[in-house]
Amino acid sequence: MILVTGMAGYIGSHTAVALLEDGRQIVGMDNFYNSSPSALDAVKKITGKDFAFYNADLRDKEGMRRIFEENSIDAVIHFAGLKAVGESVEKPLLYYENNISGTVNLLELMQEYGVKRFVFSSSATVYGEPDHVPIEEDAPNSATNPYGRTKLYIEGILKDMCVADKKFSVALLRYFNPIGAHESGLIGENPNGIPNNLMPRICQAAKGIMPFLTVYGDDYPTKDGTGVRDYIHVCDLAEGHLAALKKLEKSTGALIYNLGTGIGYSVYEMIHTFMKVNSVNVPYKVCPRRAGDVPTVYANPDKALNELGWRAERTLEDMCKSSWEFVKNK
Ligand code: NAD
Ligand code: UFG
Repeated sequence: MILVTGMAGYIGSHTAVALLEDGRQIVGMDNFYNSSPSALDAVKKITGKDFAFYNADLRDKEGMRRIFEENSIDAVIHFAGLKAVGESVEKPLLYYENNISGTVNLLELMQEYGVKRFVFSSSATVYGEPDHVPIEEDAPNSATNPYGRTKLYIEGILKDMCVADKKFSVALLRYFNPIGAHESGLIGENPNGIPNNLMPRICQAAKGIMPFLTVYGDDYPTKDGTGVRDYIHVCDLAEGHLAALKKLEKSTGALIYNLGTGIGYSVYEMIHTFMKVNSVNVPYKVCPRRAGDVPTVYANPDKALNELGWRAERTLEDMCKSSWEFVKNK
């Protein structure tokens, strides 16, 4: 049985579909801080399969204990966490408590119940301001904000766990920029509040919820002056978790993988592809750079291909189409 924390969230719900379609038994938990129970019904509808679910908070250790007590868990995929960079700067303690203390609770329970496999949602944010691209897994790490620091600290805690317990196996999956939605149109990125990331904001501008998209700077040293990122389809990302889990079933220690495509697209390329494939206008205005943004980030994804046999398959067109399909009728 696999425990999926944060399962009602964006990446958790897509990974739940991939796991159920692979015939895995799962149990989910979430506190719905940034999601809603409707995602769980959608997962059931897509897969035609049922699963146990707990409305629980990582910070409530006794509530979490019930999950371990009532289920025979042999691996954990840990998505639950807060992820808004700006909010983390304003409320660092909330991020340290929720993300770090919450993860420590989870790890203590795993230790108590003898659970040895852990897949962690890390982020390309741990590369800070990369000095070169594409980024390999052994590039230097740094954090530029409290959110990023929670990812770096948790990576460190998990490496320490592997030193202390030779039977413990961990995959640190460093996601690049997940976008897109399941082809059913039933699950996708549905954040509570105002989104920060490019694709949800493109969708809001296309829908008229925002009058225009703010392009944060067109004077970067990139192909067209706008920021370049490695956008990866969330369904490819979900399949990456399954590949990592299979690897952990045959290994111990901490393994680190970039989950990206290896291709960098600019903000203008994103806007224009979105408009073309969806036949919809995205009004935008060029504004000053956003504090903390770096010009170019994209992965070297070779290690995941060589060691996990996984690579991202879906195109930018797929990502733009499915994102809009999910959002347009909401
Ligand atoms: P999300 O907000 O959609 O999902 C996270 C889920 O965790 C939410 O449903 C939220 O309600 C839940 N949660 C938060 N704190 C909790 C707590 N204390 N107890 C129980 N549930 C809690 O985010 P996502 O995009 O699906 O991201 C999943 C993970 O991947 C996060 O850890 C995030 O930091 C990481 N990540 C995301 C991205 C991205 O761009 N989406 C990039 C890199 C890493
Ligand atoms: N951008 C805009 N306008 C917007 C939003 C974004 O022009 O309204 C630009 C940004 O300047 C950047 C690109 O679009 O060039 C992508 O921005 P996102 O906010 O979508 O993604 P980031 O790469 O900045 O951030 C992501 C994750 C963070 C993580 C960071 C570093 O969302 O959690 O990668 O790895 F910390």
